[in-house]
Order: sequence, then C-alpha cells, then structure tokens
Amino acid sequence: MKLKKLFDSAVQHGIDADPRTRKGVEKLLKKQKERMKKLDEKEKEYFDEERTWNPYADTRIINGSGEEDVKTLMVGIDGETQEVLLADRLREKGHKIDCMFIHHPEGRALADLDKVMPLQVDLLGLHGVPVNHSEAQIRPRMDKIWRAIHADNLFRTERAAELLGIPAFTCHTVTDNLVWRYMEKHICAKQYDDLGEILNAILEMPEYKYYAKKGNPPIIVNGSKSSRPGKIAATEFTGGTNGPEEFLESQSRAGIGTILSMHVTEKTLEEAKKHNVNMIQCSHMASDAIGINLLLDLLTKEEKNLQTVDASGFVRVKRK
Ligand SMILES: [Fe+2]
Ligand SMILES: [Fe+2]
Repeated sequence: MKLKKLFDSAVQHGIDADPRTRKGVEKLLKKQKERMKKLDEKEKEYFDEERTWNPYADTRIINGSGEEDVKTLMVGIDGETQEVLLADRLREKGHKIDCMFIHHPEGRALADLDKVMPLQVDLLGLHGVPVNHSEAQIRPRMDKIWRAIHADNLFRTERAAELLGIPAFTCHTVTDNLVWRYMEKHICAKQYDDLGEILNAILEMPEYKYYAKKGNPPIIVNGSKSSRPGKIAATEFTGGTNGPEEFLESQSRAGIGTILSMHVTEKTLEEAKKHNVNMIQCSHMASDAIGINLLLDLLTKEEKNLQTVDASGFVRVKRK
C-alpha cells in the first residue's frame, strides 16, 4: 500500500474512534476549510492545509512523498534520531523496513501538539463535565505546552530520516483515541467491587501483562485495592498530553470515582487526593502499544501483507 493511502486510512480510523464523533470532527474540518478560503496571500503561506482534512495536528508524515510502497513498518512508541539510525542499521543488515511508524509526535506534529488538546473538553463532556468549565481550565495548560515545546529542537528526527532516506510518519491522537475507546468499552463499562478487581481486568490484556512481567504493571496511585471504584472513566488516555490538574475537581464534581490514566503528574495526583478520586496509572507504554495494535489490526484488513519490526517500547499483539 502507498504510504499516503495507509496514512489517510489511519486518520479515518482515528476519526471513527474520536470522542467528538465523526459528525463533530467533520464540522471542525469544514470550519478549517472555510477559514482557509478567507485567508489573504500572506496568511496562506503559513496556513497548514493538512488541517482541512486531518483533525490530528500531532499525526503527520514527517518524511516522504506518500508515494512510497509500504509493507513493513518499524513501529516505535518514540522515534528519534537513535531509532532512525537503528532502522538504517537494520536495513544494512538485510532487514526490510519501508517506513517508520512513530507514536509520540516529532517535527511539526510535535510543534503543534497543543492543537489536539481541545478534544479533552468533549471527552470530559461525555462524563458530564460542563464544557465551559473544562474549556476555561484547559486554555492556560495549552498555552503552557505551546511555549514549552516552542523552545525544543523540533526537526532532528525528520532531518535524520531525510538524510538516511527513511520514510516516516507520526501517529499519536489517532491510536490514543482507539485505546481510549477500547478501555471505556472493556474496562470502564463493567462493574467491579473494588480497584483490585480493575487491576486484574487490566492485567488480562496481553500488552499490560507483558509489561507487568517486565516490572511495569498498572498501579493504583490514589486509593487502595479494597477501595470502591464508583464511576470509572479513562479520561487520561487521549487528547495530546495530560490535562490541567483543575480537571480533577471538575471530574469529581461530575461524579467520576476512578480515573484510568496512562501517566499522572504529581500536581494531578495531589488534586486526586484532595477530591477523593481514585487513580490507576496503567502502564504508559503498554497503553500506547494497545492503541497502535488496534490500528495495525484495522490496517492489516486493508493491506494483508503488513508486517512490523517492533522497536522502542512497542510490542505487536494481534486481536481477532
Ligand atoms: Fe499515546
Ligand atoms: Fe504516550
């Protein structure tokens, strides 16, 4: 399959799993198209046209024309210069690698990470948090992320890939949406007596089991094995990066009793304690791997011969 087709398809799967629903996402894309039409020549120069069809600013091809044939992907949760060198070294040793699939954003996908964060407002909205509250709370956090990333050396990975002639794309919120939906359906929607039972259910998933055996299990960071869960929500799985700690109070008021997350900041943990919200920190890498695996399962239906070289924290698990 051509890289462009594979990438487009990934974006569509991300939209299908989006908390804003396909209809909501299409409305946003339409607004971007209208915005683009109104720009003058000077403004057009800086407008990112990709935003008119791909709602995920952290998901894009960072090297390649899109015309490359892709059958074997080197998949990594992080992909920086060292992974590009690894791909090149493996190619040298005779391994077939057509393209790098990188989860955490690099290049422009990293520069624009803050722009995927408003999705969190809709996600919390699904759990009853008023959108006006979470929108006001997320703005300062988005500005902070924008300023923090702004100073980074953003284009090292893509330059390394360019120099070594290795096509690469980042695919972040797309697969995070998939794992979010999966956790909501397979964990949050079920009934448990206590957090211990939730941990056991999480450990049934092969990626979590794999990581737990290596010393990186899901952990309860607030509450205990015997704590009652109340309403469970996987609100810290998608939306670019951690939301502001103020979200904890809002979620507590909205009636959420237990939050499943990929990673928890110290400030968020403090707020969780203050507002009596249980938190389970599922393994970050295992969680990201599930999202990627769910996408690869879908892509394999379209490209039967899709193969992976697992690298940088990723482990391929196929689901029926
Ligand atoms: Fe992720
Ligand atoms: Fe991640």
